[in-house]
Amino acid sequence: MILRPPRESDVEAAYSWDRDPELAAWNGRAPISISLSAARRDYLARWEDKSVKTFIIEAAGDPIGMATLYDFRRDGCELGIKIGPGNLRGKGYATEAVSLLLDYAFDTLGLEAVRGSTMAHNHRMQRVFEKNGFAQVGDGSLLSRYDNRRYTELFYERRRDA
Ligand SMILES: CC(C)(COP(=O)(O)OP(=O)(O)OC[C@H]1O[C@@H](n2cnc3c(N)ncnc32)[C@H](O)[C@@H]1OP(=O)(O)O)[C@@H](O)C(=O)NCCC(=O)NCCS
Repeated sequence: MILRPPRESDVEAAYSWDRDPELAAWNGRAPISISLSAARRDYLARWEDKSVKTFIIEAAGDPIGMATLYDFRRDGCELGIKIGPGNLRGKGYATEAVSLLLDYAFDTLGLEAVRGSTMAHNHRMQRVFEKNGFAQVGDGSLLSRYDNRRYTELFYERRRDA
């Protein structure tokens, strides 16, 4: 498994993940409905945006997921991650990717904290946070744009010196 910057040949994979209703539900979003060419423009702009660091998770030469570091403030940032193909979840890829991202955030970017959140019923993501030394620091209520229902959201934080 490697993390690398996204490139134009990743557009179709990113588009298929953003159209997947199951992935959208886990993120509290609606699946995107724009055309591939409109999505391509959005992705290429976002991947150039210096305020968001996007990484493709690659395994055996194929893009299998995406991770982002964003919302850089208060000496920290937010982390988001997804593994696209359902049959590749639960194989340890996200755990390894988050571990690499923490090294990058703390050692290369010099941040003090990495924050994340997930829905209370997303036990897989909670395990990924726990295995990487994150602590649960609070909870809240999230209105999902997927089904317009309210869910409990759990907030996590990993400090550099944890
Ligand atoms: C959440 C997600 C990023 C985790 O990535 P992953 O590569 O599947 O995670 P890993 O394999 O590294 O670790 C998953 C852990 O959850 C456990 N797990 C797997 N399926 C589970 C389930 N249905 N319920 C509870 N735990 C589960 C695994 O056993 C593993 O823990 P362990 O090492 O203690 O055994 C990935 O599953 C995903 O993309 N899901 C859909 C999108 C999503 O939820 N994104 C996060 C939004 S905040």
